[in-house]
Formats: sequence, C-alpha cells, structure tokens
Amino acid sequence: MKQRQLGPDGPQVSAIGLGGMYMSITGRPDEAQAIRAIHAALDAGVTFLDTADVYCLDDKDIGHNERLIARALAGRREGVTVATKGGIRRPNGSWTRDGSPEHLTEACEKSLIALGVDVIDLYQLHAPDSKVPFLESVGAIARLREAGKVRRVGLSNVDAQEIAEAARIVPIASVQNRWNPGHRHPEEDGVLAACTDAGIAFLPYSPFGGASGAKSLGDMRGLAAEAARRGVSPHRLVLAWMLAKSPVVIPIPGVRRAETAQDSAAAADIEFTADDVTAVQASFGG
Ligand SMILES: NC(=O)c1ccc[n+]([C@@H]2O[C@H](COP(=O)([O-])OP(=O)(O)OC[C@H]3O[C@@H](n4cnc5c(N)ncnc54)[C@H](OP(=O)(O)O)[C@@H]3O)[C@@H](O)[C@H]2O)c1
Repeated sequence: MKQRQLGPDGPQVSAIGLGGMYMSITGRPDEAQAIRAIHAALDAGVTFLDTADVYCLDDKDIGHNERLIARALAGRREGVTVATKGGIRRPNGSWTRDGSPEHLTEACEKSLIALGVDVIDLYQLHAPDSKVPFLESVGAIARLREAGKVRRVGLSNVDAQEIAEAARIVPIASVQNRWNPGHRHPEEDGVLAACTDAGIAFLPYSPFGGASGAKSLGDMRGLAAEAARRGVSPHRLVLAWMLAKSPVVIPIPGVRRAETAQDSAAAADIEFTADDVTAVQASFGG
C-alpha cells in the first residue's frame, strides 16, 4: 500500500484509510462482521483508522466504535494510527454540537479509555460549535496535547479561515471535510488548496456520499463507463481520483463488509496521469 504523511511532521500512514461510522450507528453489522471488515482492511495494508466517540446509537452507547476498533486491533496495534473526534453529543440518538472546553476535556478522557490507549494519535474537533468561540474549542484540544493526552490535533467541518486561525495556536495535522463527486466544495472553497500548501493531511469524509451515495455511485453513467474501461469499481476509481488531486489527501471510506474494505484499499494501486484526472472528473461533470 502506498503511504502518505499525516500532517507536516506526522507518521506515514496508508494512502487509503478506513472510516468506522457505519459499523456503529443505526443499521450496524454484528461485531463479528465489523471485525472481519477491519481485519480485511488491515490485511490489505490499511494503517489509518478514523472513528469518533459519537459513532454509536445514542448517548448511552458513546464510544461504541472506539471500543470496537480497540478490540479489532488487539494484538495488531503496532504501526496503526487511530484518529478520533470530540465535540458532538448524541442525546436520544440526535446529533448536537458541544465544543465547550469542559465537554472536550471529558470526551477525550472517555476516548482514551474506550480506545485503551495512554495517548490518542490524532484528536479532531468534530465540528465548530456556534455557541462556543471557535478558538476556545481549539484551545481546549491544544491543552490536551500539552498534557500529553493527544499526539496531534485535527479539525473537521471547517473553512479555510478557521484552519488559519487554529494553526496560529496549535499545529494542525489534518482537516476532515465532506468531499465526493456530488459535493466538490473542498476544491472550490480553498480548503483543499490550504491543506496542500501547508502539508496538512486532508481526509475526505463520505467519499461516495455515504451509504446511499455508495449504492447509487454506479448510476453515474460516465463514471461507471470510465471504471468499466479500467476494470475497477466506480468506488475505487473515485478514491484514486482523490489521491491524484493532491499529495495530502488520505480518503477514509466507510465500510461494514470485508469485500468493500478490500476493494477500496486497492485504490492506492491505481496509477493516475493528469489526463486520467481530467477524464474521471469529466465523467461526473467537469
Ligand atoms: N467528520 C465528520 O463530520 C464525518 C461525517 C461523516 C463521516 N465521517 C467519517 O468518514 C467516513 C466515511 O464516510 P461515510 O461512511 O459517511 O460514507 P462513504 O465512505 O461515502 O460511504 C460508506 C459506504 O460505502 C460503501 N463502500 C465502501 N467502499 C466501497 C466499495 N469499494 N465499493 C462499494 N461500496 C463501498 C460501504 O458499503 P458497506 O457498508 O456495504 O461496506 C458503506 O456503506 C465515516 O465512516 C467516518 O469515519 C466523518
């Protein structure tokens, strides 16, 4: 598996990561299937896993995905980087932002326990909270880093200005925003360019548009034709296109099955020329 650097002074990780959300929210598979999927990804060379405390059913189930990943990594943790997030709550199964320093500090402690580690490899602010000044949330995570609870700091659901503001108070290793063929904002809003310029890892989430987007990806006729011509799945082709767009991109496709984990991981093997990038982009609208 090709490697990429997780931020300016970060470790090398697999160019394709794995997102754990669908293994722990509504519609989740049983644990044996989820662990088979994670092991299939590891066997294919994936060494970067993305989770969050709130990948669970509700507030009584916080840490479900972190605990699942910890169990899957038992005896296999060496060389694997795990990223988690704080800053959201799940009251009665809803998703509400809480970027208060108190919540982030408590959430980080719980994530350390759920993951079974002394220090979190990458801790990401899940999303800015309009009720809390952005730099107060970032500052809380910076203090967790100073306290040795967190090795690196990441941001999610942020704009280019927020990245610049946060970077003034703490080194930023990664930015995680939504990016897929139907949602090209990071290419247009300056976020992908800002990350590329600063060497900040850009982790596209929902690279297929989530579970429903993944099911209908093959309906994009141009993309399906390009994929068929190359003998790969449209999903693999989209991930390869993302990798070719910038050296800082590390997609984190979500999976519940070993088959999809294997198929996505193989995207790192596809060699892309500039003409391939143009052709694939043209296949879903330029
Ligand atoms: N920061 C945030 O706010 C945020 C928000 C959403 C997600 N995320 C992160 O980003 C990760 C990925 O996003 P996502 O899970 O929302 O959506 P996604 O990756 O766009 O789609 C997930 C779906 O893609 C399918 N899939 C994966 N590889 C495939 C392949 N090669 N061929 C066919 N289908 C394939 C999976 O199918 P199977 O289920 O059948 O395996 C799964 O249902 C999440 O797991 C999470 O870690 C972050």
